[in-house]
Amino acid sequence: MKLTRRDFLESSLAATVVICAVPPAGAAAGQAYNLELRPGTAQLVEDRSVLTNIWGFDGKVPGPVLRVKQGQPLSVTVTNRLEQPTSVHWHGLRIANAMDGVPGLTQEPIAPGETFTYRFTPPDAGTYWYHPHQRAWEQVARGLYGALIVEEDSAPDVDHDMLVIADDWYLGDDGAIDEKSFGNLHDWSHAGRMGNILTLNGKPYEHLEVASGDRVRLRLIGTTNARVLQLAIPNLRPWIVAHDGHPVTPYLASSDGVELSPGQRTDLIVDVPGKPGDKIPIVELSAGDKLVAGYIVIGEGTPKARRTTATPTALAANPVTRPAAVADQTVNLTMTGGAMRFLASAQFKGEQLDGRTLALDHGQTWAFNGVSGMPASPLFTTRRGETINLKMRNDTLWQHNIHLHGHHFVELSRHAPGGDGARTVTTDRADAFQDTILMQSDEQSEISFVADNPGKWMIHCHMLEHQASGMATWFEVT
Ligand code: C2O
Ligand code: CU
Repeated sequence: MKLTRRDFLESSLAATVVICAVPPAGAAAGQAYNLELRPGTAQLVEDRSVLTNIWGFDGKVPGPVLRVKQGQPLSVTVTNRLEQPTSVHWHGLRIANAMDGVPGLTQEPIAPGETFTYRFTPPDAGTYWYHPHQRAWEQVARGLYGALIVEEDSAPDVDHDMLVIADDWYLGDDGAIDEKSFGNLHDWSHAGRMGNILTLNGKPYEHLEVASGDRVRLRLIGTTNARVLQLAIPNLRPWIVAHDGHPVTPYLASSDGVELSPGQRTDLIVDVPGKPGDKIPIVELSAGDKLVAGYIVIGEGTPKARRTTATPTALAANPVTRPAAVADQTVNLTMTGGAMRFLASAQFKGEQLDGRTLALDHGQTWAFNGVSGMPASPLFTTRRGETINLKMRNDTLWQHNIHLHGHHFVELSRHAPGGDGARTVTTDRADAFQDTILMQSDEQSEISFVADNPGKWMIHCHMLEHQASGMATWFEVT
């Protein structure tokens, strides 16, 4: 499925400037929120007469921005006004297991009409997000997601703190969500369900209004089901200051922009020069074309003096324990299956089944270590505080995007495929803590983390169709 846009970077830009209000940063000081998951409508396409029926937190997409200070308790009372059971997962937060929102592992699903209160204290500052963990492949695709911002004790010196939540939608010509593609086994066994419409913050062409000379923090969040986005601001020179919530030593983003796989976050700080009325495009490059995703717009006002400090100072590190140099346990995680390398057989719910039965009777087309879907027993069990090295192999022809719950890891090494043994490649996230990692076909990656959060935690592919069709497991910290 190809993304379509009216605006390409090379095309002449539209004459009329539409400036939308952007909610002020830090507006909500409270630490208690109520959220309703319910149907709503959103204007996802440019034609203002077309509204799309979505499911959203408080009926909106994205849902309300939740803000809390690092180390402060937060409570979110969630009411399910949908016709199916649900749950809410706080992606990337290292919180108590009972609050992790995984039905069947950490809680019962929240039935229609029921309420559940999540209470937790985020230990790490940064950019996170929330989304259902029940039929996520449908519920997230219909619009159920929002940003959760954990504020640093001392915020960086910026004039704006803005969200850029990027999503693709699969809409029909009438602007309605294509429902018949939900559960499509072809998508599940290939790259996942791809959209044809791109939105930033739930809008067809988001306009982020700043003043000339402003320094802006942009929090990029990828909420696609499966598409790996590549976002860039070609006219500006943004610094990358954090990945997956965790500070990195600021470095300039390459002109290729920032890769944002499903669930990943990247924080940018960027200085915006220019004159009132300038529209600076934010583009999406994954398809090779420069599709305009939205704009930074310079509003009226006297330009500020340029900042004197060139590079922004690094954000304070979060209290994550570095893994030990020698692991207490090394665990293998081998991914198999999918189109063109279909599973011959795999275990599913304790039974060994052939690939055809797995796919046609159970919708399972992928496996971790020869097991499709959530196994009854954990991938591994560890005592609290142990360093775990996870040696992952993607033996499929497709990309996968592995997400670890309740913990953050560092990547130790990456091996690209190659006939004469492996070539080590480094990624720009090397050494940074992260919770979601993209792997290419036939790559190997070794990640390491301290299992210091007691409970039962999922590991899964965050390409949500892959998760649903086999790529899910869990581990237990005792
Ligand atoms: Cu963002 Cu297991 O999920
Ligand atoms: Cu996958």
